[in-house]
Amino acid sequence: MHFNYMKKPAPREAILSLFSQKPKSFVSGARISAELGISRTAVWKHISSLRQAGYNIEAIPSRGYQLKRSPDILMPEAIQADLGCRVIGSRVCCLDAVDSTNLQACRFGDDGESEGLVIVADQQSSGKGRVGRRWESPSGVNLYASILLRPAILPFDAPKLTFLSAVAVCRAILSVTGLRATVKWPNDVLLNGRKVAGLLNEMSAETDRVNYVVLGIGVNLNMRNDQFPEDLRYPATSLAIAKGSPVSRLDFTRILLQEIDTLYQLFLEKGSGPVFVAWEQLCEMTGKSVRVDCNGLQIEGVMTGLAEDGALLVCTATGKVERIYAGDVRPA
Ligand code: BTN
Repeated sequence: MHFNYMKKPAPREAILSLFSQKPKSFVSGARISAELGISRTAVWKHISSLRQAGYNIEAIPSRGYQLKRSPDILMPEAIQADLGCRVIGSRVCCLDAVDSTNLQACRFGDDGESEGLVIVADQQSSGKGRVGRRWESPSGVNLYASILLRPAILPFDAPKLTFLSAVAVCRAILSVTGLRATVKWPNDVLLNGRKVAGLLNEMSAETDRVNYVVLGIGVNLNMRNDQFPEDLRYPATSLAIAKGSPVSRLDFTRILLQEIDTLYQLFLEKGSGPVFVAWEQLCEMTGKSVRVDCNGLQIEGVMTGLAEDGALLVCTATGKVERIYAGDVRPA
């Protein structure tokens, strides 16, 4: 397990941060030593350990060190370097393998961990999907992340945070690939009509108070077609399939955390309204005819948007506006 606090940068994180301030340039050993307050020998030891972790760092005696290439492994130092978030990523835990990042985040939440903690795993043995389904989580290709939040909101309002994650994922996809993802109520992100990300929020609460919320986010980044299970309910894709080239897991993770941080501040300051507006703009079905399967009961009508509590609003042929709290929505 690799674990880090943002407020106390580890030497390796500080060195990566120096490299990121001067991309493609050499940083002298003397400068690293002075900035970090450590000896030149210690600098060398940390550079060696970064190399062992897969960083390609060139060393030229008269010039210093240059970062040539970062590995696409998720390490706290690399995720946190100059992240610039207010809350999200205050602590980052990267696991080689875990049952489920959501379960791990809940365990940390029960232990009193502060909000902003991010758990990411290279693979999950029991990745959790919605309604008890399984989330396929092979190693080395995707992002499996859970974020611990402690918002001062009522338990009733916590499901609204799912829309925040969905908007953040779409923004990160646009920023990293230039591709326009869309959202599907309540918690899917689609690319070319195929599912590219799933969101699963979990909560610990008392009647009138939230102890913590875990935002669970799974994004298919570099998964190949042959890695998807055959019994998928909904056609799936990955960013690499849609874009035709691999995506850096590190870059995507950092941008996603920054987007979540921005939207979380907005949510705390202004409520769910602005996040809902952003979500409705990303939903291709807004204003279109849809059919919703609510546990076998079919509702047809025009999707008009989200109610103030996150319910899906569908205006039926009789003019009645139905509020839907659970169901599968598809274009009619
Ligand atoms: C869905 O069914 O669409 C939701 C899938 C959510 C998967 C993510 S992967 C990271 C986090 N940990 C889990 O066990 N599940 C969520």
